[in-house]
Amino acid sequence: MKVLVTGITGFAGSHLVDYILAEKKGVEVVGIQRWRSRTENVEHFLDKVRMVECDLRDASSVRDVLDEVRPDWIFHLAAQSFVPTSWTAPTESLITNIIGQLNIFEAVKKLRILPRIQLACSSEEYGLVLENELPIRETNPLRPLSPYAVSKVGQDMLGYQYFMSFKLPVIRTRGFNHEGPRRGPVFVCSDFAKQIADIEKGRRPPVIRVGNLEARRDFTDVRDIVRGYWLALEKGEAGEVYNLCSGRAWKIREMLDMLLGMTKAKVKVEQDSARMRPSDVPVLLGDAGRFTKATGWKPTIPFETTLRDLLEYWRAR
Ligand code: GDD
Repeated sequence: MKVLVTGITGFAGSHLVDYILAEKKGVEVVGIQRWRSRTENVEHFLDKVRMVECDLRDASSVRDVLDEVRPDWIFHLAAQSFVPTSWTAPTESLITNIIGQLNIFEAVKKLRILPRIQLACSSEEYGLVLENELPIRETNPLRPLSPYAVSKVGQDMLGYQYFMSFKLPVIRTRGFNHEGPRRGPVFVCSDFAKQIADIEKGRRPPVIRVGNLEARRDFTDVRDIVRGYWLALEKGEAGEVYNLCSGRAWKIREMLDMLLGMTKAKVKVEQDSARMRPSDVPVLLGDAGRFTKATGWKPTIPFETTLRDLLEYWRAR
């Protein structure tokens, strides 16, 4: 079997390939990278996968790659994934996320191939969630609060529409926050862990800069999430949408306290107004019942282990 992974050089993409190479025998992995992608997350398996160059925003390049590779499955993970960037670069975020995916769908349609396609949609799509709407199920309303969230609603709805109109076997996963080693340094757990590692090494004064600590997020280890992505294509129903989450929400402040409990450094916490968002999603707490029922998936790695591994990752760098 041949699988194509978009976003292979990223956080989730590289962990997904680690999982496939370790657990699934006889699977050929092809990864899509842009010519300027950083390769630090994939160096360790470059001899076991095939990398092809392609910019998903370029329709003809996507068609050529799909024509040549003809995958059985596609994991579509490539995206502009940082919420604040979507306020400073909304056009870029919408084009990369929505048009990039549209180019894959159109190429698949034109080539008359029928790969199963997993879409990395997001809990951010739920946006503003009222306390009496928790935990979030797939049937909750979508009230996106950022251009990024709107782009993910677009990807999600296009997935639904191409399944309904053309029977494209699309499975949508709404991933809640996932963390772990290799997490990009702009995301909150990684940002705080990196600041602590830098303070321990004396690279910065013992002050940790933070944004909104009152937000609540449902965190899962990235290694559990990518196992879920695999199960989504193996056992999920085409056309369906599934939440992937732990079912527990942590205040960002609680997460910071856990990290601070893992260091001997004495650290002061300071709020930085530049880290506050025009509209922040106050709470994301999901119900993964539908996905567990369909696939048997449950997260196994405790959040404390995830944070410790992330801190160790930054300490080692
Ligand atoms: N990044 C960041 N930096 N966030 C901070 C900070 C800080 O210094 N201080 C507080 N926060 C708060 C943010 O305001 C937000 O409420 C929360 O921490 C999480 O922020 P991020 O880690 O940037 O993630 P996100 O929730 O906006 O989005 C992530 O999860 C989505 C799924 O729910 C991303 O991975 C998205 O790509 C993903 O779709």
